[in-house]
Amino acid sequence: MPRRDKIAVIGAGNGGQSTALFLAEKELGDVTLIDIVPDMPKGKALDILEGAAVGNFDVKVVGASKMEAVSGADVVIVTAGSVRKPGMTRDDLLDINVKVVASVAEEIKQHAPESFVIVVTNPLDVMAWVMKEKTGFPKERVVGMAGVLDSARFSAFIAEELDVSVKDVSAMVLGGHGDSMVPLVSCTSVSGIPLTELLPRDKIEKLIKRTRFAGGEIVKLLGTGSAYISPAMSVVMMAEAYLKDQKRVIGASAYLSGEYGISEGISGIYLGVPVKLSGAGVEAIIEIGLDDDEMKMLVASADEVKEQIEKVKL
Ligand code: LAC
Repeated sequence: MPRRDKIAVIGAGNGGQSTALFLAEKELGDVTLIDIVPDMPKGKALDILEGAAVGNFDVKVVGASKMEAVSGADVVIVTAGSVRKPGMTRDDLLDINVKVVASVAEEIKQHAPESFVIVVTNPLDVMAWVMKEKTGFPKERVVGMAGVLDSARFSAFIAEELDVSVKDVSAMVLGGHGDSMVPLVSCTSVSGIPLTELLPRDKIEKLIKRTRFAGGEIVKLLGTGSAYISPAMSVVMMAEAYLKDQKRVIGASAYLSGEYGISEGISGIYLGVPVKLSGAGVEAIIEIGLDDDEMKMLVASADEVKEQIEKVKL
């Protein structure tokens, strides 16, 4: 009998629940929402399931408080861990979330050894690295969600500034998912028209700056918690690319072992780069020529991620 794909979402906070909802709405597979807190994930899953008749989706959505519920998952999305409070950087979450992600990784390795894992927990690039180290999965099967979200934010700001449809904007953001990320102007266009033809440099710089601090802008406005709707949409897009073998070219935090010449001296690093995401997972890392300034920014961003990775004791 054919079986539906199983998608496990670990961490049932706002991000995890929103992810479960968007996965269900797209009917990408049966969804299991897992959190170590008793009952709460079941309540959150039930809340989604009870909307199925109205939302017109026909998949199972269940909650679980035992990590073994990840068993048999085709895709595992990891949102578990603490989120920022106003004034914190993503890196301030390092110590606490390393422990969470390392223990989640052990469970995934044991119960879903063939799964494709998408990490959302911050600091994103370091957590994706921890996940790969701890599961021992091949690099194609562990990826971090950042570039899709960062590019979506850059696109939203460009569309607003130009008063054009966001559907016509195509943007690319590289580097670590932190304040040093690299919105790539040379790869950003509106229906193929280079952004530099449409906006003066100082306006573009303002949008770049806003993109870099977009996560923090929301943290500050919310007062408690961080963004979760757009991150959830972004991770669902990545899960869809994998499950439907879409071969999408997107920005994602991927394991670099030599590409862009920035993992020298260490065994490997996760960093946001353009990838081809297909049913094979991260099927390819796309190396593009960067100008001197962009390369300098990418190296600086990689150095920040490396510094954080060096602090991790597994
Ligand atoms: C943000 C978090 C999800 O960028 O990292 O909003």
